Amino acid sequence: MLSQYYKKDFKILGKLENDMRLVYLDNAATTQKPDVVLAAVKRYYTVDNANPHRGVYELAMRATDVHEQARNVIAAFLNAERDEEIIFTRNATEALNLVAYSYGLANLKTDDEIAVAVSEHHSNLVPWQRVSEITGAKVVYLYLDEHGEYTKEELTSKIGSSTKILAMAHVSNVLGIENPVKLATRLVHQNGGIAVIDCAQSVAHMKVDVRDIDADFVAFSGHKIYAPMGIGVLYGKYELLDKMPPFLSGGDMISHVHESGTTYAKPPRKFEAGTCNLGDEAGLVEAIRYVEKIGLDKIREHETELCKKALDGLNSLGGIDIYPAGSDKTRSLISFNIRGVHPHDAATIMDSFGVCVRAGHHCAEPLMERLGIGSCLRASFALYNDMDDVDIFIRSVEQTRKVMGIGS
Ligand SMILES: Cc1ncc(COP(=O)(O)O)c(C=O)c1O
Repeated sequence: MLSQYYKKDFKILGKLENDMRLVYLDNAATTQKPDVVLAAVKRYYTVDNANPHRGVYELAMRATDVHEQARNVIAAFLNAERDEEIIFTRNATEALNLVAYSYGLANLKTDDEIAVAVSEHHSNLVPWQRVSEITGAKVVYLYLDEHGEYTKEELTSKIGSSTKILAMAHVSNVLGIENPVKLATRLVHQNGGIAVIDCAQSVAHMKVDVRDIDADFVAFSGHKIYAPMGIGVLYGKYELLDKMPPFLSGGDMISHVHESGTTYAKPPRKFEAGTCNLGDEAGLVEAIRYVEKIGLDKIREHETELCKKALDGLNSLGGIDIYPAGSDKTRSLISFNIRGVHPHDAATIMDSFGVCVRAGHHCAEPLMERLGIGSCLRASFALYNDMDDVDIFIRSVEQTRKVMGIGS
């Protein structure tokens, strides 16, 4: 079991929650941070801190190196062709907004179509609704079948010559199923459009290869892959980035500024206005090294086993609705409801057993509407969870039913 070696790297997991072992199963919301990541952030501020690009003194040049080396590590991690295709943002949300407001506003016009998977997190859905309001382009939703999957028929019927942009998550943050991003990307390319793939829920659980997917843009947040909050990444194909107008403007993103106007820096700096978050970039680099050392394949195998055991446990209890029903394709998270119990009540009771799970609409309200529910519970796994965590989780669900007077 992976976790027996790695749990000790995360101090917070050794703490008690309500006098009980902390069973942290809200990893899809944010992961805990290993000591090496915390140390890397501290090291940056202790040893290398200065404002990058702006100083000619030794320390500032070291800070610039930290920044550019981080770009290099992330480019290799995603298999990007060039370092300049990596843009630092605050999080996935900002990265997706950058694409919507820069590429979207510059390229969309009335009656163009934006194909958006209905299961998207609001971060890859609301920006497209906003851009649609401004440009007159139409949002066309892609719908899931009863197994929570986007079929080839659905994709081919919705992605056509009017589709200028496809917005789809690699893995849904509610259903946990890998979406057919390669097929969807190929279809949108055949029609002359571009693909924006949200990898916030895949990057910590499986290899993301931007060239294999052939995505035009990929976004993720550092904090979901064991790095600090406040650092995110946008990958974009260089030839697209080069033609796009800036998103935010100000310092660092310019070539020259005159009273009469401004010329802009080349990508990626054109899209990195203001001082970047170098401390957390250093943390992200260390987090990537950490998961790569363990191996994403091993992590995936481990989390799949945890998911399988948790699914078996939930199914054996009875009275549990799992979304999508009967699916065994989820690899890192399970969304469910305890019949007759509001998810917020359930999550509160489970917390009294030291179990942290998410309750709510998970920033995916259109998906909730398709599923015919207002909210649900979500247990999501990481490399440090173990089989004991799953046992405690299942017992806490059982106890919740008892407390609520169900099934006893
Ligand atoms: C699939 C997906 N996309 C985007 C986001 C937004 O991430 P952030 O809040 O870090 O920007 C999340 C967060 O849960 C997510 O699960």
